[in-house]
Amino acid sequence: MNVLAFESEPLFQIQFLNAGRRSGEFTTDLLPIHQAKVDSLPDDLDAVILTADLQGRERFQEAGGKPLRLLGEVLPDCLMKEVFPLLGLHDARRIGAVLAGDFYTVPGLDRRGGTGDVSAVWRAFGDPFAWVVGVAGNHDTFGEGQQTRPRFSSPFHFLDGTSVALSGLRVAGVSGIVGNPSRIQRRTEEDFLFQVEWVLEETPDLLVMHDGPEGTERGQRGSSRVRLLLERKAPTLVVRGHAHWQHPFAELENGTQIVNVDARVVILVRH
Ligand SMILES: [Fe+2]
Repeated sequence: MNVLAFESEPLFQIQFLNAGRRSGEFTTDLLPIHQAKVDSLPDDLDAVILTADLQGRERFQEAGGKPLRLLGEVLPDCLMKEVFPLLGLHDARRIGAVLAGDFYTVPGLDRRGGTGDVSAVWRAFGDPFAWVVGVAGNHDTFGEGQQTRPRFSSPFHFLDGTSVALSGLRVAGVSGIVGNPSRIQRRTEEDFLFQVEWVLEETPDLLVMHDGPEGTERGQRGSSRVRLLLERKAPTLVVRGHAHWQHPFAELENGTQIVNVDARVVILVRH
């Protein structure tokens, strides 16, 4: 799958509450929704949604007095009501969703970088869409235990050094970030590279990671070793999060493209 046109200008922006550093310090922020046109999509799909790092909650006006839901829990509904009509998308069952990790924020919005259960976000995407595929970010847990591996069944597909065929697309994924493996969702750089190389053997159409390669421009932070590895292999489309890129799209020398969806949504549609 090849991106032919990436629209840097957002098609739409969604207001949400971003955590502050102490009680009452939260701010209202905007989640940009971009459109990107790809050369081809499977016949049974009209679009694929890519997103990561939705570390915020809905606004009080939307919550109607109830506890604030995670931004990722309310996003599918927002997309269906506000954004899909702009793109002529009418049937959510013909849309797939790719979740590249980090969907938790503490309920009080008084602390950044909290870790917690993101199952509700995955479920919210599974309700309307054809399938949900993704990886864990370094702040994501699934269910009660910190180390519990999600035991999802179709239409949910959790990837970690694994791949799956969805609508005829081969989607591979590597969860977590490079870091001290004694901490949650972290692995050594060697192990991260091993997992990436392992899944690239499947020549995936999409490779989903939370951490991932650097881009080609200044400020497109990431791993230079993952980038070098990708450049030695057959071209693919990498979806990553974790590090914010001002310009969220890059193309490597071998034709591999990187879409960084940290605190963004990108909707892939047919050209
Ligand atoms: Fe992260």
